[in-house]
Amino acid sequence: MTNFNKFITIDADKLEFHSSCSEGLDEFLLDEVKNSGLKIISSNRGGVFYHGNKSLLYNFFLSTRFSSRIAFTLQKFVAHDPNELYDKAYSIPWERIILEEYAYKIESMTKDSLENSRYALYKLKDAIQDRIRQKQNREALIDREYPDIEIILRSNRENVSIGINITSRPLNKRGYRLDTVSAPIRENLAQALIYFSDWDKESILIDPMCGSGTILIEAALLLKERGYINKELMYDSFIFNEMFFNLNYNVKPLDTNPNKILYGFDNDPLAIEKAKKNIERAGVSHLIHLECKNILELENTFSSETGFIITNPPYGERMGSTEDLKEFYFQIGKILKNKFSGYRFTLICGDKSLLGHFRLKADKEKNISISKLKGKFVSYQIQ
Ligand SMILES: C[S@@+](CC[C@H](N)C(=O)[O-])C[C@H]1O[C@@H](n2cnc3c(N)ncnc32)[C@H](O)[C@@H]1O
Repeated sequence: MTNFNKFITIDADKLEFHSSCSEGLDEFLLDEVKNSGLKIISSNRGGVFYHGNKSLLYNFFLSTRFSSRIAFTLQKFVAHDPNELYDKAYSIPWERIILEEYAYKIESMTKDSLENSRYALYKLKDAIQDRIRQKQNREALIDREYPDIEIILRSNRENVSIGINITSRPLNKRGYRLDTVSAPIRENLAQALIYFSDWDKESILIDPMCGSGTILIEAALLLKERGYINKELMYDSFIFNEMFFNLNYNVKPLDTNPNKILYGFDNDPLAIEKAKKNIERAGVSHLIHLECKNILELENTFSSETGFIITNPPYGERMGSTEDLKEFYFQIGKILKNKFSGYRFTLICGDKSLLGHFRLKADKEKNISISKLKGKFVSYQIQ
């Protein structure tokens, strides 16, 4: 049985935290940390270091849309070589961090005098194992696949930092998407697109080519329970619970808008079936209306003169010939102008050359480059 009393005291107010994000989402994460009221210490490609008071941290951890991992810094020191790393790491009270019932894993990111990050990782592992063996005469458990505790070793030149991830699963894999279509958008990229669209969480949001429903589900999660999209993962994390155990924030489940304002369409009945399953799994069926329909037959029967159309239309060879797609984009532009004036149309497109065929004037654009995808977020105010 878990005995939390033995675990080190973690005073969140006094700690430095690091959020990392997926490639291409750095600016979104930086904005998010800034807007949350936390104080930024530094940022670089792939992440932000920050600190702040407990209640700001609590809200941020539960609601961050762009952090894929959050770690706190356990200790920082200078190590000129792996032996110094061993000695300094040995002085950390590992026996009060990796308790008997927990298994751990180390991730290392080192560039510098520690050179070989594998070697540095082994040195840290030796320090942990030796210390726990020495202090408590036991072998600490290691589990590379499903660890309870993930230790992060970073070093830049001889500056070493050892941190611990708050959750053992990444925040951006929310677990609802078991049914996918051929080109699903990633959950955190969908969040970035929604953020880019300036959707106010009160207006109608339509995804007319919703595929497996990712954009709609991510929007629905923002409406549920104060936008605490990471609630399950955080409440499952014993480290999060250790940090905030004595605070009574009294978080009531709250649907900020009980009406269905999220609408999804797709002309592929199979995609609609899959979206339905994902939506159910995410627990947001009560917030989303789904229908099998061709975008080119979409009527504006919505009860509002303004709203947001946010989508990830087909592009690329898998989705049809370039000539067909050009004509398709042209027809979409026509429908929007004829039926959705007053709406804001925002999309992610993997093939920028198709955008001109909408015959619409963009008022906001952002290049998005994620692994092989060299795409664009674009937003239009439909006149
Ligand atoms: C890139 S996928 C969207 C993926 C989606 N964002 C997701 O996360 O699963 C494009 C979707 O557009 C749909 N689609 C293609 N032509 C359409 C049309 N004429 N009307 C409605 N949907 C269409 C496809 O069936 C496909 O599901």
